[in-house]
Amino acid sequence: MGERRVYLNPAKLIAESLLYREKSIKLIPVPWLLLKKSKKSLCGEKRKIIFDIQVKDNIIEFMKKEIPLDKANRIINNGPVVMVSTVYKKKPNIFSVAWSMPVSHSPSCVAISSGLSNFSTRIIKETKEFVINVPDVSLKEKVIGCGSVPGDNVDKFKRFELTPVKSKKVKAPAIQECIGHLECRVHRSLAIFDHIVFVGRVMAAYVDRDKWDFNGNIWRLERCQILHHMGGEFFSTIGSI
Ligand SMILES: Cc1cc2nc3c(=O)[nH]c(=O)nc-3n(C[C@H](O)[C@H](O)[C@H](O)COP(=O)(O)O)c2cc1C
Repeated sequence: MGERRVYLNPAKLIAESLLYREKSIKLIPVPWLLLKKSKKSLCGEKRKIIFDIQVKDNIIEFMKKEIPLDKANRIINNGPVVMVSTVYKKKPNIFSVAWSMPVSHSPSCVAISSGLSNFSTRIIKETKEFVINVPDVSLKEKVIGCGSVPGDNVDKFKRFELTPVKSKKVKAPAIQECIGHLECRVHRSLAIFDHIVFVGRVMAAYVDRDKWDFNGNIWRLERCQILHHMGGEFFSTIGSI
C-alpha cells in the first residue's frame, strides 16, 4: 500500500478503518481514544478532527511523533527559518522567524528574536506561549507570506491555507503542514533595542516520523529539504557531507 498522507474527519476515519480491517490492516488504537475524547474540533470547526496518518507495513500510524525533550533542540540545530504560531483570544497567528536558536540542553530551551512592532510580540508577551514550526522548501511562499503581512487584522492560517492543529501542552496551535514542532512557554524575555528575545522552555517536541532519524536524532535530509533564510528574498537549503 505504501506511504500516504490523508486527512480524515471522524466519519471518514471510521469508514476507512472498517475498510482497512476488512483488508486485515492493523489499526493502532490511538485514533479511537482521540475520537472519544474530542468533543471539540482540533482546528476550530465543531467535530472536525484532522488526523495526519500514514499506512506503512499495513499499520496506520500518526505522521507526527514525539521526540525526547533532551533531543528537542536538534529540530532547529541547523538554523532553519521557522514559522512561529501563537493564539490570543481564540485568534491564531503565524509569523516567520529567521532568528531562532537553541539555548539550553537541560531543560531544553530555545530562543526567538521578535521585532517590537510585530503583532506576535504583543501576543507572546501577553500569553507567554508560542510554537516553533519547521517548514520545508514546499512552504517557501507561505513563509514569505506570513513574514510579510501583519497579523492584527488577518487570519494568516486562512489567508495562506495552513492548518492549525491542537498542541499538546500549550494553547497556541501547531501548523500541520510543517515537519517539526517545538511547543514553548516563555521562560524569560530580554529587550534588545528594536527586538525582544523570548527564551522558551520546550514543553513538547514532535516531528514527521518519516523525515526524522530517531537513532541519530537528526533530520533525514534525503527525505526533506529544510529551508534557510539568507536575508531579503534569498533562501537556501542544506545537504549532508
Ligand atoms: C523569511 C523571513 C524571516 C523573518 N525573520 C524574522 C525574525 O527573525 N524576527 C522578526 O521579528 N521578524 C522576522 N521576519 C518578519 C516578520 O515575520 C513579519 O514582520 C511579520 O509580518 C510579523 O507578523 P505579525 O505582525 O503577525 O507578528 C521575517 C520575515 C521573513 C519573510
